[in-house]
Parts: sequence; structure tokens; C-alpha cells
Amino acid sequence: MIRRLNEHIDYLPSDDKNGPCPKIVIFHGEEATLLLDVSTNKERLDEVLSFIKEKDYPSLRYVALTHFHDDHTSNLMYLDDDIEILCSKNTARYLSRKSTLVEKDEDFDLGNYTIRLILVPSLHAKGCLDVLADSYLFVGDSLYYRQSGSSYYYNHEIAYEMLRKYEGIDFKTSISAHDQNDESKEEVISFLKRLEQAPVTKIIP
Ligand SMILES: [Fe+2]
Repeated sequence: MIRRLNEHIDYLPSDDKNGPCPKIVIFHGEEATLLLDVSTNKERLDEVLSFIKEKDYPSLRYVALTHFHDDHTSNLMYLDDDIEILCSKNTARYLSRKSTLVEKDEDFDLGNYTIRLILVPSLHAKGCLDVLADSYLFVGDSLYYRQSGSSYYYNHEIAYEMLRKYEGIDFKTSISAHDQNDESKEEVISFLKRLEQAPVTKIIP
């Protein structure tokens, strides 16, 4: 069931019962609709595409990808070739179709409604991209660390860079791809401070 966040943003919640199925976020302006991630499982994508038609939103012209992991990207194969894919250079390396590289933070106009694409350092994956829209920051998996069993992979330099980056972004609420609970900016910053100061368990070489 798709939920409405405000007049420009709707999203299909994550459903991780049978394996990871992250959110699909729908942004629309007066001229275009953009999806953030396409998730996995065709039925989920179809639900989003029908919703866009039902609501009579402008046509789907763009997909932005938070990072390259399959659970966020695998439904790309069902989308028409004329839909433009926006992603980081690292994410583009994993795609089997043409994409437009996001090489620096940039505003993106959907027709009287602008969102911001932001490249962020992340412990989770190389080349993560977040979207700032109104006061919401859609962080994909950027704030998760890489986990293996009970230990996590950790790099002080990346944690430091994450803290500096997120401190400088003007948002009130962060929305992750798999979580049901949103977090405030204060909660994100205090999490990153803890991470930056945590004892090293394993270091990414
Ligand atoms: Fe991921």
C-alpha cells in the first residue's frame, strides 16, 4: 500500500519478510515523475507504475539510484529505455543499461518542484546517493554499516567524512530504505558520532 508523505512525495514501504525489498519513493513535480530506487520483485514496481497512472502524475522520466545493490536496482530491467537513470559513477559500473552520472551534488527540477541529489560517503557501499526533498532526507542504505555476523566493518575516515557531510545537509527527518521508523537529524548526528568514536572491530582495507 503506497503512502503519501506530502503533495509531492509518495512511497511504497519496504517489505523485508522474504528477503530485502527496500522502499520505492515517488517524487513528482508539474512536468515529470522520478523514482528513487526501483526495488526488487516486479509486482512492487507494477504497483508503483499503476499508482502514477491512477493519480495522473506526469510521466515517469527519471530513476535515481541510491547505490548499486541488487535489492535496490533489479527491477530496472522492466523499465523502458527512455527513462533516464541518474546515479553515481560507482553505481553505473554495475548497471547493464545507459545512465547519467551524478558527479557532484545537484538540484534537480521536476517542474516547479526541485529535489537535490547528494553524493554521500558511506560505510555501507561505495558511491551512495541521497535525495533531499523538502525537509526529508532519503538516505537509502547510506547510514547502515556493512555487517558480517556480529561484527561490523568499520573505517574511521569514512565515519568522520559521513559526520561532516550530514552535519552540513539541511534536513529535519531522515528516511532509510529498509526501516519503518524515521529519524531526526539530531538522532542521525548522534549515531554518526557514536560510530566515529566506536572501538574498531574490523577495518576495511
Ligand atoms: Fe544496500
